[in-house]
Amino acid sequence: MQKRDELYAGKAKSVFKTDDEKALILHFRNDTSAFDGKKIEKLDRKGKVNNLFNAFISEKLEEAGIATHFIKLLSDEESLVKKLDMFPIECVVRNISTGSLCRRLGVEDGLDLNPPTFEFFLKNDDLGDPMINEYHIESFGWAEASHVERMKELTFKVNGILQKLFLDAGILLVDYKLEFGLYDGEVMFGDEFTPDGCRLWDVETREKLDKDRFRQGLGDVVESYEAVARRIGVKLD
Ligand code: C5P
Repeated sequence: MQKRDELYAGKAKSVFKTDDEKALILHFRNDTSAFDGKKIEKLDRKGKVNNLFNAFISEKLEEAGIATHFIKLLSDEESLVKKLDMFPIECVVRNISTGSLCRRLGVEDGLDLNPPTFEFFLKNDDLGDPMINEYHIESFGWAEASHVERMKELTFKVNGILQKLFLDAGILLVDYKLEFGLYDGEVMFGDEFTPDGCRLWDVETREKLDKDRFRQGLGDVVESYEAVARRIGVKLD
């Protein structure tokens, strides 16, 4: 597989074309960003842990019948993926209240949400990724109604699979963000699932083990990502 020109550099990943027009290479960099790119730092080993974490989770999802864009690992920091036509939308499921939900709605932090709640956000850094609803998505043509339904269905299905996977390792899956795209007409999970895009708390101590450590300046960011990875069975060495 030949790596070709860089297609796009995101805040933590770069995307490269390959000699196969239906495949891309994702390079997970050490860059870590928060607050729509206003806080950025390079953290040693972060590219590697996120690449291996994402590969592990993608394989677990595939085993459970969820199609993902992940094809295979190419190196410590690179994965080969299917080229999707991405929707400009973030799908968030929350099992426990925290983060922007509490800021927006004034609800208490740390409440168990039964049923889990769901939110759509528009991917637009200039606007601070505003919350949107299904009517916005259809009116502005960001996705068709059937694709919106499928994104919701898949995001909740992922919850059932990953809540158990993390709980078996003594970790609560508090919330997470997924992005989807189309591949040969099928709605498929793209982008990544890493501690950069979810919240993970230790069951016993409720210690934060995810990107909130970076956002809140708690330290040991990569060390926590690596500890979670080892607890769920990711082989890092
Ligand atoms: O900030 P908020 O509470 O809305 O985040 C909900 C979940 O979505 C968190 O797990 C957060 O890490 C993730 N998220 C993300 N990328 C964004 C916004 C939120 O991965 N742009």
